[in-house]
Amino acid sequence: MEKYYITTPIYYASGTLHLGHCYTTVLADCVARYNRSIGRDVFFLTGSDEHGLKIETNAKAAGLSPQGFVDKIVDGFKDVWRALNITYDKFIRTSDASHMELVKKIFKKLYDQGDIYKGEYKGLYCVPCETYFAQSDLVDGKCPDCGRPVSKVSEPCYFFRLSKYQKWLEEFYESHPDFLVPEARKNEIFNNFIKPGISDLCVTRTTFDWGVKVDFDTKHVIYVWIDALLNYISAIGYGSEDEKTFQKYWPADIQFIGRDITRFHAIIWPILLHAIGLPMPKLLHSHGFVTQKGDKISKSKGGGFDPITLCNRYGADAVRYWLIKDGPIYQDAPYTSELFIKTINSDLCNNLGNLLSRTLAMIEQNFDSVPKADVVDKDVDNPLIDRINNLDSKIREAMADARIDLAINEIFALVADANKYVDVTMPWALSKNKDMKRLSTVLYNLYFALGSVAYHLQSFLPDTAAKMASMLAQKDLAKFKEYNTKLYGAKVSKGEALFARLNVEDELKYLESIDPKAAKVEQQAETVNLITIDDFDKIDLRVGQILDSEKIEGSDKLLKNTVKIGDETRIIVSGIAKYYNPKELVGKSCVVVTNLKPIKLRGVESRGMILCASDDDGNLKIICPDGDIKSGGQVN
Ligand code: MSP
Repeated sequence: MEKYYITTPIYYASGTLHLGHCYTTVLADCVARYNRSIGRDVFFLTGSDEHGLKIETNAKAAGLSPQGFVDKIVDGFKDVWRALNITYDKFIRTSDASHMELVKKIFKKLYDQGDIYKGEYKGLYCVPCETYFAQSDLVDGKCPDCGRPVSKVSEPCYFFRLSKYQKWLEEFYESHPDFLVPEARKNEIFNNFIKPGISDLCVTRTTFDWGVKVDFDTKHVIYVWIDALLNYISAIGYGSEDEKTFQKYWPADIQFIGRDITRFHAIIWPILLHAIGLPMPKLLHSHGFVTQKGDKISKSKGGGFDPITLCNRYGADAVRYWLIKDGPIYQDAPYTSELFIKTINSDLCNNLGNLLSRTLAMIEQNFDSVPKADVVDKDVDNPLIDRINNLDSKIREAMADARIDLAINEIFALVADANKYVDVTMPWALSKNKDMKRLSTVLYNLYFALGSVAYHLQSFLPDTAAKMASMLAQKDLAKFKEYNTKLYGAKVSKGEALFARLNVEDELKYLESIDPKAAKVEQQAETVNLITIDDFDKIDLRVGQILDSEKIEGSDKLLKNTVKIGDETRIIVSGIAKYYNPKELVGKSCVVVTNLKPIKLRGVESRGMILCASDDDGNLKIICPDGDIKSGGQVN
């Protein structure tokens, strides 16, 4: 049996999970279920990341020991995964003794082989993100990832000699162009973080206690990211007495991660594996964020309804469906309660639920059981039958690239076709006219189409598939894999609606009542970008021409540009050095905000801002007028 090893990131046990967190794990669960359904021997891993200063601090604030605190949080994680029907095979905790043993062992091995050395770390650290930054990484002096203040730290520490593996990593990416998807994110990591040079990484801390200690220098706690990344191999027994599971499942076939943790997985993780002599995972799948107010959902910003509450009220499959259909497979995607409720109503309740109840009602009203297909109208029937028969290969194709979104859309394309089939064949008219022979075929085909939907939904919406199986009176949904005319005679039962129709207003009120803070963030989402024309008029935008551009010494982000705006020439500093070679910019037109307060960056006074457009895939371009406009020209 072919093995298939799937991992999710391990979640920080510093607080509860929100809907955004659930995205990664729901994706992974769909992939796990799908691969099991095609006969693979799946190992699906998730878990908790339990060490670090943030957890130590949160535990203290809660009046608990760190271990007592994470135990409670982890119980909560498991409740969320239960509510969402997540079928993980193992839940790894970084506080597991076997995991901690392995972390120590690998640290020692890397030290012994010269990959880790002792030095002095001076720099900046973001506690919530557990990440060190160089001054030039900061945005407005704050953490570039979470926007919170960073702390200055200076301490003896052990460094991981990542720089030694620079060439190897570059060659690895060049020879494995499909290692990291989406491609744009891979390019961003490669061009902006690998190519310019990888620095050695400080991999221990001495300012807190809660973590895995370096056993030959116990003042030092191993950096949480080294500790955390190793979960993917400790969980399957690497380095233990019995490595059978590890031998069977490593390398991972797919590792799901969010875009915020891609750098760690795309640089440190491959180097770590290579340094200890292990093969690389086959695929890193990096998704975007579920956003609210244009920002990553995050508890600290008040966002995100509780996933368990949503599952209890709307069913796990409603939450799963919304996440996989409209979620951020590659690009960020916004969540609003209104979108969520409307999607349930239109796709699940109307398109699927109504089709099912109408079909079953017509079978019950006109026949004893599912009728035998009789009179065929090839022109009308065959497109539906073809869609049923092609579905398996279309889903296989989508799932080979982990495109869960495309797979679910294929299933709902069959639902849409079946609804069109009802419109064209008009079974109620056939019944009225007593054309029972044609009616038999039409209802049989609809029955089969619904069976096919249920069969394929098993990997994505398991509760719905099971309910449908019982309503369709077929225990073994695999019978619907390929169209045939043998499944007549089943005693269907219409039962309750698959998804209850929701009143949008009532539900929005309900959601507001259960979590006013999350609802408030959401409401702001709709109005936050609205400004008046007077606000806009306050900004003086002009066309400028870049006369010269040069790098600012000591910064890998900033360019000092000399820009002509009408008769005036100004210096404008912009953070675009990673995207443009200064020479490329000379002569280009651009759009400048001219009335920004001057600011000193790296000792250079900047007067204004050059406008740029960027996307989630890491592309950035300066904005230019579409044709010749003299410098100084107004932009409005
Ligand atoms: N502990 C680290 C991962 C270590 S893996 C060796 C971590 N934990 S986390 O709890 O902060 O995030 C877990 C996952 O949830 C990450 O993949 C992250 O990208 C994802 N998400 C957190 N918020 C999210 C959204 N709003 N939207 C989509 N995914 C998000 O990072």
